[in-house]
Amino acid sequence: MSRLRVGVLCSGKGRGSNLQALIDARDRGELGADIVVVVSLNAEAGALERARKQGIEAKYVDPNQFTTPEELDRALAEIMHERQVGLICLAGYMRIVTAALIRQFPNRVMNIHPALLPAFGGKGMYGHHVHEAVIDSGAKYSGVTVHFVDEVYDHGPIVLQKVVSVLDDDDADALAQRVLAEEHKLYARAVNLFAERRLEVEGRRVRLLPPS
Ligand code: GRF
Repeated sequence: MSRLRVGVLCSGKGRGSNLQALIDARDRGELGADIVVVVSLNAEAGALERARKQGIEAKYVDPNQFTTPEELDRALAEIMHERQVGLICLAGYMRIVTAALIRQFPNRVMNIHPALLPAFGGKGMYGHHVHEAVIDSGAKYSGVTVHFVDEVYDHGPIVLQKVVSVLDDDDADALAQRVLAEEHKLYARAVNLFAERRLEVEGRRVRLLPPS
């Protein structure tokens, strides 16, 4: 069986630390997939720089050249198809993904979110906003969610979650840091499960199949 080809997609300036974590896992021989392209809608994204350093194709797509989100998504799908990508990983992609992309990659687009969905998700819930909302809510636990992407923000079938405790003296920064450390482990695990065809989606639930 040929190795899974992954395309990473980001939209903001972003650090690109989740991309880096996937690259590091690959370098340690712990990723059963190849990252073949990184596409960013921001020319200054940290992820593009990180990809270039690794000899991974880094592609800037200017979203302003498209008149509708669907048109942009069709172009993104074409880029991914051309490179025979089997899984698209969003990493700091803050836009809604439309049916124009999802229908071409059903249950083949993953996202990582820095909280335990379905709480603390949705439009505007990104970066520090998420961690501030968690702390303000008084919740004792936050965490990380990897999920398949559908046409609603932070809504698709949940693949994996990891709980992170909220400590009494946490501020958003401190919590963000501990959550991010877990993100970096969880995304690679989810990609590996996908690569091993161990994720079975049934409605909103994802069943984890045993190793074959
Ligand atoms: C991460 O916190 C991720 O959960 C969210 O966007 C952030 C991207 O960070 N979807 P990075 O660019 O990968 O460092």
